[in-house]
Amino acid sequence: MRCVAIKGVREFEVKEMPEPVAQNGNVLVDVKKTGICGSDIHYWVSGAPVGLVMGHEYCGIVTDPGSREDLKVGDRVTALPISPCGHCPACLTGNPQYCPETWTYATGLSLTNPGGLAPKMAIRPDMVIKVPDNISDEEVAMVEPTAVGLHAIHLADIKVGTRVLVIGGGIIGLVSAMFAKMEGATYVAISETNAARGEKAVKLGVADEWFDAKDPEVVNKLIAKTNGGFDFVIECCGNAPAVSTALTVVKPGGRTILVGVSMDAVTIPTVLAVMRELDVQGAIAYTREEFQTCIDLMAQKKINVLKFVDDIVGLDQVQASYERLTSGTDDAVKILVDPNR
Ligand SMILES: NC(=O)c1ccc[n+]([C@@H]2O[C@H](COP(=O)([O-])OP(=O)(O)OC[C@H]3O[C@@H](n4cnc5c(N)ncnc54)[C@H](O)[C@@H]3O)[C@@H](O)[C@H]2O)c1
Ligand SMILES: [Zn+2]
Ligand SMILES: [Zn+2]
Repeated sequence: MRCVAIKGVREFEVKEMPEPVAQNGNVLVDVKKTGICGSDIHYWVSGAPVGLVMGHEYCGIVTDPGSREDLKVGDRVTALPISPCGHCPACLTGNPQYCPETWTYATGLSLTNPGGLAPKMAIRPDMVIKVPDNISDEEVAMVEPTAVGLHAIHLADIKVGTRVLVIGGGIIGLVSAMFAKMEGATYVAISETNAARGEKAVKLGVADEWFDAKDPEVVNKLIAKTNGGFDFVIECCGNAPAVSTALTVVKPGGRTILVGVSMDAVTIPTVLAVMRELDVQGAIAYTREEFQTCIDLMAQKKINVLKFVDDIVGLDQVQASYERLTSGTDDAVKILVDPNR
């Protein structure tokens, strides 16, 4: 079957790979849609590991239920892409995101477990979740990034009437802003280096206002706007300027959630955190419960994530789509791949 694999720095190739075979009780699926994630972009930019077939946000149709007796051929599913061991203290307390093995064999993020940038996939059975009929394939492919935002906002523990800044208007920033409003924030701002994405966040109704992160005065403007600082800052970029801004514009004693990932060490002005007693909290992935909550919210029509989907492309357009998503000027935020196109 055809697939898209990392070939080098910012370079994919469309190539042939063997179809997955039934083994270890894995669930085999036909992939309907796969999302391109900001984390995938980090791998593509680094060019490693060569041969990686990404795609950890997906909707599939079961072709072989493997060891899952509750599933049948034709069921529509998604899955947590992680590989927790199942028996460490983190796993046993419902926090697989802390398990040391969680990313080792992650689907679409490890060489041993190819992801959805191919028409067929094998998925670890205990991670598979059947989805209701009333959510579309596109929504199903959006569950994973939506759960990342939900987890970040749960950790922020936003109070009604507070002011929240989200740094970075990629999909993680947009869903975080959406949930911040749902939690009762009365003012949600987004800061962005890409004006098209900043404007879009306001147009889509997830942010009240956007700020140009390239403006040399942005920090002063943000502090002035909130009369001394934001109650919460959700950092969804991972780079040093963004983290530094987060710690500068949060109010004394306020809480910053670090969601953005950096492949490099990031230097942060710890003195800001020390002198103003900041609460700085990391956020990784989601719990199983949060993943299911996102499916439930979609099924109950309480959230609309389809408004974040900009395009659906075939395998031959994956390279161009990554270039579009990293142009710094295009307003596209989420592109889904249909590997059968
Ligand atoms: N912690 C987790 O569990 C988790 C899960 C998924 C993604 N992530 C990470 O979260 C980050 C966001 O993911 P995404 O899919 O939204 O990525 P993305 O690349 O689509 O979005 C990042 C956005 O940040 C903007 N940006 C860059 N530098 C900025 C700055 N200094 N100030 C303001 N805006 C800036 C970019 O223009 C871009 O729109 C990535 O680093 C990704 O790896 C973390
Ligand atoms: Zn993702
Ligand atoms: Zn474990």
